[in-house]
Amino acid sequence: MSGDGNPPKSRRGLSTEAIHGGETRPRAGNAITTPIFQTSTFVFDDTAELIAHHSHELKREEYGRYGNPTTQVAEAKCAALEGAEAGLAFASGMAAITTALFAVLQQGHHVILTDDCYRRTRQFCSGLLSKFGVEASIVETGSIEALEAAVRPNTRVLISESPTNPYNRVVDLDHIAAVGKKHRLLTIIDSTFATPVNQKPLDHGIDLVLHSATKYLAGHNDVMGGVILGKEPIIDAVRDCQGVLGGVMDPHAAYLLIRGLKTLPIRVEHQNASALKVAEMLAAHPRVDAVHYAGLETHPHHEIARRQMRGFGAVVSFEVKGDMESTSSVVDASELFQIAPSLGGVESLIEQPALMSFFELTTEERLEVGIKNNLIRLSIGLEDTDDLISDLKQALG
Ligand SMILES: Cc1ncc(COP(=O)(O)O)c(C=O)c1O
Repeated sequence: MSGDGNPPKSRRGLSTEAIHGGETRPRAGNAITTPIFQTSTFVFDDTAELIAHHSHELKREEYGRYGNPTTQVAEAKCAALEGAEAGLAFASGMAAITTALFAVLQQGHHVILTDDCYRRTRQFCSGLLSKFGVEASIVETGSIEALEAAVRPNTRVLISESPTNPYNRVVDLDHIAAVGKKHRLLTIIDSTFATPVNQKPLDHGIDLVLHSATKYLAGHNDVMGGVILGKEPIIDAVRDCQGVLGGVMDPHAAYLLIRGLKTLPIRVEHQNASALKVAEMLAAHPRVDAVHYAGLETHPHHEIARRQMRGFGAVVSFEVKGDMESTSSVVDASELFQIAPSLGGVESLIEQPALMSFFELTTEERLEVGIKNNLIRLSIGLEDTDDLISDLKQALG
């Protein structure tokens, strides 16, 4: 939180927003939940109504790629939780990122992103965008000097994540916003790992917040989605671009997102507490070399995290004393933790990044991007903390 650390007075509590925020009343059929409007198109009474719609005299739905009432509730609920003017939902987190960047960039522009950004975001910025004449600079996460030095006259966007994958590095959001304001850049924070329960980037002066809703927001490992949140004019511009690119959220996915969001605060608070206990156990374990969790005082970004976060999230990474094979045997020995990519759901997950996202690289190439063979990443779910700790102890044993 910036300023005096208090949210604006008009804001209700987070759990109240999670349940009631963005919901419209009365609802179709007097249902207590928002129904799924499983329709691809919307009918007009007559030509006069169609003309009123096109002349913006009447606000209503037209076609599924331009909006759906269920999806709009999901968007408004996310906006209420993040304290944003407006929100827009997508088919996936990557659809949100790529559509937002396509909407605000043009040939000749330059983007700065931090080196810990999700690898597909990096791939999009330094690979795909370069085909359209947009340049990208990747700077070290957390380096204030590198960030300022990378700014060019044609820089338009500064994009970062916080906390980052898999080391839970935390960027100073006030600093990112200040650099953005000084150089008139659009600042974007991918806040997927934090959720609005743990941090509110917009309160720090960040322009756009982005989430892979596939993770904590939906929270049940059963749906793909993405959202962006910010001021209305920029969300409108991205919506126009989405109408062309087409990566819209399906109404059924929107329903699952709405349902997941209602328990977001209670889930994340439990996950925060569990993850801290797991991290503390690992830090004291004789078979563990290092633990990367911003909630631990030993983490290099613990102080920044304490300043700007209410909790430290539920991704815990640690290094096993051993090589690739002995690390894999710890992963394989876990029983409650299941081997899968992704994070943020109710089921706890375990993965060895060297063999999951970085499989195609050699050990040397992995080390260049900071991924050790003995690294394990956990996503702490909602099982009993003691059971998770027992499982990890037996797997390490
Ligand atoms: C931080 C972060 N941002 C964005 C994405 C992309 O989201 P999705 O998988 O929903 O497209 C991911 C996926 O793992 C992620 O971890």
